[in-house]
Amino acid sequence: MVKRIEKLIAEVSAFTADNVQQLEEFRVKLLGKKGDLSLLFEEFKQVEGEAKRELGQKINVLKSRAQARINELREALDSRQVGAAALDPSRPGTADYVGTRHPLSVVRSEILDIFKRLGFAVAEGPEVEDDRHVFAALNFPPEHPARDMQDTFFIDPQPADNPALLRTHTSSIQVRVMERQQPPIRIVCPGRVFRNEAISARAHCMFHQVEGLYVDRNVSFADLKQTLLYFAREMFGAGVEIRLRPSYFPFTEPSAELDVSCSICGGKGCNICKGTGWTEVGGCGMVHPNVFESCHIDSAKYSGFAFGMGVERMAMLKYQVRDLRSYFDNDVRFLRQFAAAV
Ligand code: PHE
Repeated sequence: MVKRIEKLIAEVSAFTADNVQQLEEFRVKLLGKKGDLSLLFEEFKQVEGEAKRELGQKINVLKSRAQARINELREALDSRQVGAAALDPSRPGTADYVGTRHPLSVVRSEILDIFKRLGFAVAEGPEVEDDRHVFAALNFPPEHPARDMQDTFFIDPQPADNPALLRTHTSSIQVRVMERQQPPIRIVCPGRVFRNEAISARAHCMFHQVEGLYVDRNVSFADLKQTLLYFAREMFGAGVEIRLRPSYFPFTEPSAELDVSCSICGGKGCNICKGTGWTEVGGCGMVHPNVFESCHIDSAKYSGFAFGMGVERMAMLKYQVRDLRSYFDNDVRFLRQFAAAV
């Protein structure tokens, strides 16, 4: 009997299974109801005396070795199956989605690149500003309505003569540059601006601007006009025309609104330009002497022009986005459409 048990032990350690079925057959043969171990236990009942201890131990060794071996082989077979499924080469692949640049970033850098080619440097400044840089130094009279709570987000009403607020335009950057630098100055100022307006398809309380400033000796309105014409043609195409309509800003004199001939219909009139053939893209003018004085630049010696435009508006004209809010919803279905615009 000892010999038979030892033979079975050797069989157990040598056994391998190619599949679950073979393993199951082996388990039944050894551990099943009528299997080898059951038979051994039956015989064992009849054994008497000294031999019983030794035999008992041997049978237990056989039983635990058999169980261990079966578990080991089952695990090996299971993991082989999982491995095979994970490596199924016939399954379709999953493509990684690579993010794209936001349309406003694309248009912003397009605008900046055009002015960089004309020798303009990029200047940036803080979004939380004070009254001096947003209004006072730009020749806004103390009671000007733009300072009103309806338009401006105030951060801190103190000190009363120079409260902290969110900038309503990036002209504040121009003041900061003129305060620390004498002409020649040739800068473009991109940035986020804030106005207390109800959010709708055409207005938002936060939007983006690019403003520009050129100060030197003998800078004229003709320089302004030519610069804007060059910009419009680079931005919207060689056939584009510009139109300057008299307007008013406290910080420029004379002032004008800049219109660009509608690039959608080529000036014939469509629903984007409301049938006029022109779309308004920004404001501009010759820097007011009072602005120079408050920044300690000699207005008798220097002159300059300034302009400002909305990035959302440019993007709208370029991509025909009709609702301003889509820029800030972060809906990937909207954003993905600009994947090619890099
Ligand atoms: N700062 C003006 C605005 O925010 C735009 C502008 C800039 C107009 C420079 C004239 C000159 O609307």
